[in-house]
Amino acid sequence: MKVIACYSMKGGVGKTATAVNLAYFAAKSGLKTLLIDLDPQGASSFYFRVKPSSKKWAERFFNAYESLVKHIKASDYENLDIIPAHLSFRNFDALLADLKNRKNRLKRVLKGFKQEYDLVILDCPPSIGYLSESIFIASDLVLVPVIPTTLSERTFEQLITFFEDNIYQLKKIVPFFSMVQWQKSLHKATIESMVARYKVFLNTTIPYSSDIEKMGEHKAPVDVFASSTQANAAYMKLWTEVSEAHL
Ligand SMILES: Nc1ncnc2c1ncn2[C@@H]1O[C@H](COP(=O)(O)OP(=O)(O)OP(=O)(O)O)[C@@H](O)[C@H]1O
Ligand SMILES: [Mg+2]
Repeated sequence: MKVIACYSMKGGVGKTATAVNLAYFAAKSGLKTLLIDLDPQGASSFYFRVKPSSKKWAERFFNAYESLVKHIKASDYENLDIIPAHLSFRNFDALLADLKNRKNRLKRVLKGFKQEYDLVILDCPPSIGYLSESIFIASDLVLVPVIPTTLSERTFEQLITFFEDNIYQLKKIVPFFSMVQWQKSLHKATIESMVARYKVFLNTTIPYSSDIEKMGEHKAPVDVFASSTQANAAYMKLWTEVSEAHL
């Protein structure tokens, strides 16, 4: 079983759109896939039409596999299950602060899923705290959407520095460009300079596209309602590249 985190400390960069479309293509390719929505906003749960559980259960999230497994919901797609978010997940950092061995907690609970699932995808909230650190340890791959602008470049540098300072494995970080508008000279120049500086960027770029924005209207991955679009081809290519090079 592999664990992929869709992560950035920056908000609104395409983490959820990536988690939803990759989880969909992974399941379609035959992998038993579990998407865990760690963001109290619950956006990926919403895109898959899965309602959060009515109970506030964040306090039990990091206890054991058994406390998580009860919250698994089936999606409309074969091979794809979801653990939806709950608003109480907003307290994860505070909760972890009081737990012993907090950095390894997520890894430990996820281990329980390895008989049932080939792949776990984590849709992460935009923050950098105890939860993020447990995500960095639990994940095989930290997939980072980067909008090619100056501020996003700075945020990406901060993430690299954070990994170096805290001795997390840098090779886990796999960035790709998101919401790309090739007609903008700033986007083009930022992509060129970042690709030259960091050799780890995926070749696939996700374009800025209204078809991706429409996921909210359709409550579905792009392939379901706009299969022959450039946006869908880009997510398909992203999944192929991630799975071939990194899984
Ligand atoms: N490639 C894209 N082109 C156009 N719009 C996009 C694209 N990717 C995402 N969006 C839109 O931008 C918004 C933010 O995307 P998304 O929710 O995937 O980002 P996020 O990083 O998960 O945000 P948050 O930090 O709030 O969790 C959404 O309204 C989404 O529909
Ligand atoms: Mg999100």
